[in-house]
Amino acid sequence: KKGSYDHYMQKEIHEQPHSLTTTMRGRLKDGGVLLGGLKEHLKTIRRCRRLVFIGCGTSYNAALAARPFVEELTGIPVTMEVASDLLDRQGPIYREDTAVFVSQSGETADTLLALDYALENGALCVGITNTVGSTLSRNTHCGVHINAGCEIGVASTKAYTSQIVAMTMMALAVGSDQISTQARRDAIISGLTSLPSNVSDVLKLDVGMKELASSLIDSESLLVFGRGYNYATALEGALKVKEVALMHSEGMLAGEMKHGPLALVDENLPIIVIATRDACFSKQQSVIQQLLSRRGRLIVMCSKGDASAVCPSGSCRVIEVPEVADCLQPVVNIIPLQLLAYHLTVLRGFDVDQPRNLAKSVTTQ
Ligand code: UD1
Ligand code: BG6
Ligand code: NA
Repeated sequence: KKGSYDHYMQKEIHEQPHSLTTTMRGRLKDGGVLLGGLKEHLKTIRRCRRLVFIGCGTSYNAALAARPFVEELTGIPVTMEVASDLLDRQGPIYREDTAVFVSQSGETADTLLALDYALENGALCVGITNTVGSTLSRNTHCGVHINAGCEIGVASTKAYTSQIVAMTMMALAVGSDQISTQARRDAIISGLTSLPSNVSDVLKLDVGMKELASSLIDSESLLVFGRGYNYATALEGALKVKEVALMHSEGMLAGEMKHGPLALVDENLPIIVIATRDACFSKQQSVIQQLLSRRGRLIVMCSKGDASAVCPSGSCRVIEVPEVADCLQPVVNIIPLQLLAYHLTVLRGFDVDQPRNLAKSVTTQ
């Protein structure tokens, strides 16, 4: 089943042009988006007071990646909940809320308990899952199957990118009654159409990421700074490194750099800064300058052709990725980090598909 690949994680990373295609298949129609699983509920969702995104691990990160665009296109405030934390707090959920549960397996215990809780509180419950017939799919009022195909590697890769795309399509569908954002929606739909080929393109960084991994094998820690659309990319990139390569790694909001993380910067600690083109670009340029002036060891991810714009001194290692519509950039940007985590794991001699102490699906609390 792994075919020509050594590991499922590797296969699933390289499969993403295809899994993204199947996520979108039959759903981009006549210049609009048709999600069969949501169409009866769009009116209720449009009227809700708030969207609450709920998940664990990578699925939480996917929801976080979608959040800025969902807020932009629907105008509905989005709050983020890690399932266990919502349960710990017994946080308020109201009848006027739409609760969106994101889970690859559809069987994660905390996510399902949070679903029971939201159902009891009368919210409309929407599922985003990869597993037809899962408890999440059955027990939600409606939802979207992401159709990414079976994912075997414990570290989620292709499900993450398909979850983001499914939630992007959800935002397009919910926002489709707004005339003022028609041009923006058209641009995103056209971006979605070319996304699989952009992803094929970024997968060519495989060899470069293996080289980068070999320069990091003995590091004790790796920081990843992102913001805006790519805050989630920083969290998810760091999660991949931690869970499979068993290396300490933290994703951080670049806007918080001066409030603590800056104290860690020295010439040894490797730091990845995500600085692809979007509305936050100039802020990330200044973050890079501040890190360089403290002798930070920087690896900068930027849009193709931007190497000298992000690092005029030439003292950073640069990862150039194809530029896509800003809200879709997280789908492209996570891929070099997935490849990096994969190669780091192999080079450090750890189990890629069954990382120590972890399970694919955590069905107990
Ligand atoms: C459905 C069919 C698909 C077919 C297509 C043709 C299924 C599973 N899907 O896809 O095979 O090609 O019609 O138009 O038969 N749901 C939840 N919670 C979730 C996910 C989904 O309640 O977490 C519900 C949806 O609201 C919907 C149903 O499950 O009622 C199927 O969802 P989905 O597969 O996303 O719908 P379609 O894309 O229309
Ligand atoms: C586990 C997996 O911790 O559960 C992660 O190892 C996953 O990869 C998390 O992100 C949540 O799983 P699911 O199925 O709810 O998306
Ligand atoms: Na259902």
